[in-house]
Amino acid sequence: MREEALAPAGAAADEKQHERGKRTARERIDALVDPDSFVELDRFAVHRSTAFGLDERLFLGDGVYTGRATIAGRQVFLFSQDFSVLGGSLGEVFAEKICKVMDLAVRTGSPMIGINDSGGARIQEGVVSLGGYAEIFWRNVQASGVIPQISLIAGPCAGGAVYSPAITDFTIMVEGISQMFITGPEIIKTVTGEDVTFEQLGGATTHATRSGVASLTAADEDEMNDQTHRLLSFIPQNNLDDAPIVPSDDDPLRFAPELDGVIPDSPNKPYDILDAVVPVLDDGDFFEISPLFAPNIVVGFGRVGGRSVGVVANQPKFLAGVLDIDSSVKAARFVRFCDAFNIPLLTFVDVPGFLPGTAQEYGGIIKHGAKLLYAFAEATVPKITIITRKAYGGAYDVMASKHIRADVNLAWPTAEIAVMGPGGAVRTIFRREIAEAPDPQARTIELIAEYSERFANPFIAAQRGYVDDVIEASATRRSVSRALDMLASKRVERPQRKHGNIPL
Ligand code: HXC
Repeated sequence: MREEALAPAGAAADEKQHERGKRTARERIDALVDPDSFVELDRFAVHRSTAFGLDERLFLGDGVYTGRATIAGRQVFLFSQDFSVLGGSLGEVFAEKICKVMDLAVRTGSPMIGINDSGGARIQEGVVSLGGYAEIFWRNVQASGVIPQISLIAGPCAGGAVYSPAITDFTIMVEGISQMFITGPEIIKTVTGEDVTFEQLGGATTHATRSGVASLTAADEDEMNDQTHRLLSFIPQNNLDDAPIVPSDDDPLRFAPELDGVIPDSPNKPYDILDAVVPVLDDGDFFEISPLFAPNIVVGFGRVGGRSVGVVANQPKFLAGVLDIDSSVKAARFVRFCDAFNIPLLTFVDVPGFLPGTAQEYGGIIKHGAKLLYAFAEATVPKITIITRKAYGGAYDVMASKHIRADVNLAWPTAEIAVMGPGGAVRTIFRREIAEAPDPQARTIELIAEYSERFANPFIAAQRGYVDDVIEASATRRSVSRALDMLASKRVERPQRKHGNIPL
């Protein structure tokens, strides 16, 4: 029976899986975890259904392999769905197996990884399979913020089944073989008349660029595994643990002279914020999350002095680094992950404000922008903020300002901290004077120069203590490293409450 449980649908079914360009469910486990570390549970489980001839179709394991393994020596729990068994469809026993490992993952404080490749609810089992899904969703929610949860999408993931990955912290999709959607192309055609392919509707690229559902995409399953390993290396086992310290030869007090040349002379000229972020991190190693979605904000992991940090950075290269709906939501979710899992936040600010326009206003930029404000304000992990250039208006407050309890706020000499940019400011406050001037344009230029001289710098904020220091850009790494040392023992008491009411 052990032998049979290795390929319950038979070798031919495994071959079919290969023909689809996919690994089998067991090959996936072997490729993901440390050699010889997988300890399987419930390999002899079979379903109890008799409807539609299912009693004639029993497969050892019931279409999903579950158990415990290690990755880089650290314990994880996982499940891998077998598409060759009844299309990887989820029935009662299949769900029970997943729930058992999820419970163990929570009980032992270990990350949970799900490899998804399934036709969804097992139609023959009816409402019982819907119940099974809901049991999984409920556990996803209970485990949220307690253990990291990672979803690997390596095949179809349709209907309500997508809600388990949606609740997990990170979703990785493989180009060409994975799709996620609530309703498929046929139903869409019937209901809305739209023509759309599976790939256009719910493929990896769609979810990485348009919906933001995919945190990462991979060219193939090997790359997906590499990304999973890399992700795990930055995060702790659970909410009571710290992320692993990864020693490096890179001196935490190293000056980074290249940073002094990052900010262009003209305030309106874009630059790549990664040129400011990367030299601050150990060995210049940055692991970006959701790189293709809302690229006007960058989020991801790095280390300083061996400690993991979560980086949030406005990206002036795209849309001048404005905050809009998508970038606010992307960054807010990342901030909440870092806060839940004790990962200090390192925020780089160069933000001209929120994106104007009816599309943004009607789309709810007020409530979506508030998510980021709420997430930063609620985060109690060490918060270090570097203002590289613009910090204007409400966006100044939102981007981990001192007022919402960032711990260490630093500004580069090029920082401009003001209610709005010089152009908008003088046209507002000197509207009449400009209109009455003999040469309005010349007067505007003059006033902009005066305003810039007065406000477009970090020193007024520094006088107030809103920034703790104005530092040379080249000293950023050492300043961040010292701030992290100082804040390692940070403790925050919060009043008892059931939970806040984040503006969802
Ligand atoms: C039972 C299923 C199944 C399902 C597939 N199979 N989906 N069996 N329940 N949901 C079986 C097929 O009958 C077939 O069995 C085998 O799996 C392989 O399926 P194929 O269709 O041959 O594979 P392929 O052509 O690759 O197409 C894959 C697919 C398609 C796109 C996933 O199978 C499909 O559309 N399935 C239905 C998807 C769906 O509508 N699921 C319900 C969604 S609603 P044999 O014996 O012929 O090999 C849902 C709700 C979740 O899931 C609710 C949570 C709250």
